[in-house]
Amino acid sequence: MHSVDPTTEMMIRSVLAYAENRLRLDPVPLDSGSRDPADLDFALAGLLGNEGHNPDQVLGVYTSMLAPAVISADSPRFLGFIPAAPTKAALLFDMLISCASIQGISWLEAAGAIHAENQVLRLLADRAGLPDGAGGCFVSGGSAANLSALAVAREVAKRKSAGPARRWRAIVSSDAHSSVGNTLRLLEMDALVVPTADHRLTGDAVTAAIAADGDPGSLAAVVGTAGTTNAGIIDDLTGLARVADAYDLWFHVDGAYGGAGLFAPSVRAAYDGIERADSFVVDPHKWLFAPYDCAALVYREPALARSVHKQDAGYLDVIHEQPGEWNPTDYAYHLTRRARGLPLWFSLCVHGVDAYSAAIESAISLARQAAAEISALDYLELVREPDLSVVLFRRIGWQAADYAAWADEAGLEDVATDAGMERMLGLGTLRRAAVAEVAG
Ligand SMILES: Cc1ncc(COP(=O)(O)O)c(C=O)c1O
Repeated sequence: MHSVDPTTEMMIRSVLAYAENRLRLDPVPLDSGSRDPADLDFALAGLLGNEGHNPDQVLGVYTSMLAPAVISADSPRFLGFIPAAPTKAALLFDMLISCASIQGISWLEAAGAIHAENQVLRLLADRAGLPDGAGGCFVSGGSAANLSALAVAREVAKRKSAGPARRWRAIVSSDAHSSVGNTLRLLEMDALVVPTADHRLTGDAVTAAIAADGDPGSLAAVVGTAGTTNAGIIDDLTGLARVADAYDLWFHVDGAYGGAGLFAPSVRAAYDGIERADSFVVDPHKWLFAPYDCAALVYREPALARSVHKQDAGYLDVIHEQPGEWNPTDYAYHLTRRARGLPLWFSLCVHGVDAYSAAIESAISLARQAAAEISALDYLELVREPDLSVVLFRRIGWQAADYAAWADEAGLEDVATDAGMERMLGLGTLRRAAVAEVAG
């Protein structure tokens, strides 16, 4: 299984040929996601068993049956959920990392990979305006990043508290991503949900909510969103930072989707206040043109994260005894990890940061252009001006069933559920310029 024999040679040829063809597709076809499990069972029948098969036969089943049953999130025709738009450079380097089993666990084992990843984290920290000592690691996604960061927030609150053990809470808006709610549940924390005017969490609203709250001492963190999932709205980060300072709370900024806008000068001012975050997350697999899965998690004081996430085991002692050591594994809830920041590093080096800024700017400007065109049409209603790349509109007089019928006709499946229609009517060419209607 590990030697280079004729079967290996056959696989190298066939799999690389497939990868090459896929990389050359322009545009990438949409394919389609869900399938009847019975059809897939039928297609795969007999392949996974005690005896092996000819790799070309297995690859043939994959290419003919499985691959088309995976919707291409990087297709310009993918208009649902959050699209991906990995650069060819990033995709190629991702393949290289797999072929070379590149891991990024510890400095002892992977200094080269980690150093390059850290340069990208530094670039992000600079864009946010965090101090020199800031740092963190790449994790699988915004959900993992939010969990890891808020675990630190809770521990820090615990350490500062003199009182008996208690259930901690975090301040969130009703527009925070679902992963924040999940995180709080997993951490046995509760949410103080602060109502927002126009879906934007402000410092004043949080101050009022704390004043009205019976138990402000149980608050550990305030969570701001830099680019809400449904509408791309950036919370009042300066106001939230002020509240965090006043009440000695951890300030976490979830920029999983919108953090990429830090690279766009035209909207940079909207992020003011992020430089005061204790932790923030940006998902390069969303809007920084990296392949799945890749989320950057940066802490103002990484030592705090390390004191929470570092795993102690006899066999790991050695990784914590290296000069200049930086172990990504110490900064989130994970141990073994792929160096998933490297495809982004490679692509940034190849294309230059300016190309990223230009691409993000053009998505924002496309969204504005779309909004202007929508406003000019009498059968559409713009719900709000876009802040980033999400455009919200409704078709006047349409109900959910009309959107569903439209989607079916357009060949899209099942996107017109209440929240699901939010990204349905996208302008595909620049991926994030989805056009949608916010339910309610
Ligand atoms: C604001 C925000 N936070 C977190 C997440 C979760 O990120 P992931 O899917 O990478 O776990 C998303 C995903 O859409 C998001 O939009």
